[in-house]
Amino acid sequence: MIIAVDGPTASGKGTIAKALAQHFGLPHLDTGLLYRAVGRQVFLDGGDPDNGADALAAASFPDSLLGDPHLRDEATGGLASRVSIHPAVREALFERQRAFATRDGGAVLDGRDIGTVIAPEADAKLFVTASVEARARRRFLEMRDRGAGVTLLEIQDDLRRRDERDRNRAVAPLVPAEDAMVIDTSSLDRDEAIAAAIAAVEEAI
Ligand code: C5P
Repeated sequence: MIIAVDGPTASGKGTIAKALAQHFGLPHLDTGLLYRAVGRQVFLDGGDPDNGADALAAASFPDSLLGDPHLRDEATGGLASRVSIHPAVREALFERQRAFATRDGGAVLDGRDIGTVIAPEADAKLFVTASVEARARRRFLEMRDRGAGVTLLEIQDDLRRRDERDRNRAVAPLVPAEDAMVIDTSSLDRDEAIAAAIAAVEEAI
């Protein structure tokens, strides 16, 4: 069984994907982490994230980089969104995601293009979304807990920029698959969002 969970940053898709993996006893891959690793590697190389060759070189990052706490930084998220525009970077990361999706027994993957590109045959496709205000508020509280000195408005602006880049890129843009079930988490708490996701998957399989 393959479960695809797509959606914008801070929509709750990561939390939902993790909970689904636990509920259905499946392994989980956060594919954003792979793009974040490419963004981080470009930075470490002193490369230009908007340059296709620099970004592609960074796609052969060492596996050890996946444990780097800086992958979660807002700055790395911004770099990830820039390197993910290049088709060659997406191709370089394709096999790894595809192999995970098609492993025996199934898997849960979350990202932007799981239901459209990585696993179009997925048994259940969720598109998790929320208003930019709700997402910014969540991200703000998370960052404040981690002691980061950013304002709500800065986060909101950054999310808007990233949404625009993710939605308008030529290759694998952030759009719901035609057969995806949309879950809007704007006015749901964590448990309600998870319950809605489990119900949607059960209905689909
Ligand atoms: O989900 P997360 O915020 O970790 O993703 C970081 C960036 O990586 C996104 O803004 C998006 O541009 C890119 N990404 C992608 N395709 C995926 C996962 C993430 O393009 N499947």
